[in-house]
Amino acid sequence: MRILVTGGAGFIGSHLAERFTGEGHGIVILDNLSTGFESNVPENVNFVKGDIGDKELVARLFREYHFEVLSHHAAQMNVRHSVEDPSFDAKENILGTLNLLQTGMEYGLKKVMFASTGGAIYGEQTAFPATEEHPTNPIAPYGVSKLACEKYLNYYTVEHGLKTIVMRYANVYGPRQNPYGEAGVVAIFSRLLASGEQVTINGDGKQTRDYMFVGDLVEANLAGLDYTDSLTINLGTGLETDVVQLYQYLAEAAGTSLEPQFGAAKPGEQRRSVISPEKARRVLGWQPRIELAEGLEKTYKSFAA
Ligand SMILES: NC(=O)c1ccc[n+]([C@@H]2O[C@H](COP(=O)([O-])OP(=O)(O)OC[C@H]3O[C@@H](n4cnc5c(N)ncnc54)[C@H](O)[C@@H]3O)[C@@H](O)[C@H]2O)c1
Repeated sequence: MRILVTGGAGFIGSHLAERFTGEGHGIVILDNLSTGFESNVPENVNFVKGDIGDKELVARLFREYHFEVLSHHAAQMNVRHSVEDPSFDAKENILGTLNLLQTGMEYGLKKVMFASTGGAIYGEQTAFPATEEHPTNPIAPYGVSKLACEKYLNYYTVEHGLKTIVMRYANVYGPRQNPYGEAGVVAIFSRLLASGEQVTINGDGKQTRDYMFVGDLVEANLAGLDYTDSLTINLGTGLETDVVQLYQYLAEAAGTSLEPQFGAAKPGEQRRSVISPEKARRVLGWQPRIELAEGLEKTYKSFAA
């Protein structure tokens, strides 16, 4: 299949592009390198540096390659930044997505695989783990813009017959995640531990997340690519881990007895987040396979190499 991977120079997109290419699909990556790196682009993959909001460029790519599938992973994904500048977040995430969809429809796009969020979209959870039916009450503009994209995708499905796979990701971690961002606690801790620096945990470290290894996510995307209908699914493990436990796993992988220090809590941070993978298991036959300790060890080693 001919697939446009937006955000393919980033963490998740680069793993997907690599695997899609390995499966024999024809891939083009579109990425503006705002948080991604050209060095992440897999070998022999066509890379175009540019913005998803650039109408002329996006039209030229669709005209030239006639993509059947859009694997849409480019986004402004900094939650704090979205709070400081909701307009920028909406421009990148909503208008950028609309430009891709609108142009894609003109050039025969058949299917969209969309990277949504299983954390920010639900807001403060009232049931654990959250299923896809959990109320969506995002508390940050980033979650609002992802939810808006989901609604637009539904519009294109209902009104124009576009097949859409909405994937609500848990906290994804693994090699190549950017350790210099505000998010990506596994990458941040791994880099610090690999260079022998002390880790600072925000707040009491009891805030929980659902951590999923990127390799499992890639498998879910492959299953989604084969799925012939439209779908909204959580992609997570259903398991909750707090930051102190996460640190302990990574410290063990690093072979260090260095203790973390505790800093101020981040305002607006959700206390607990965990999503159910049950529907993905039932409908796609997918389930996460990499245990947390194993995934964290692999990730730590990639940062220490
Ligand atoms: N990492 C996670 O835990 C997680 C969880 C939920 C959802 N997601 C979603 O998955 C996707 C990928 O996240 P990631 O962790 O790989 O982040 P990332 O920052 O590594 O990747 C995003 C990529 O998109 C590119 N990009 C950003 N804005 C762009 C634009 N306007 N035009 C072109 N390229 C642009 C960046 O340069 C980067 O390479 C995002 O949509 C994110 O919201 C990630």
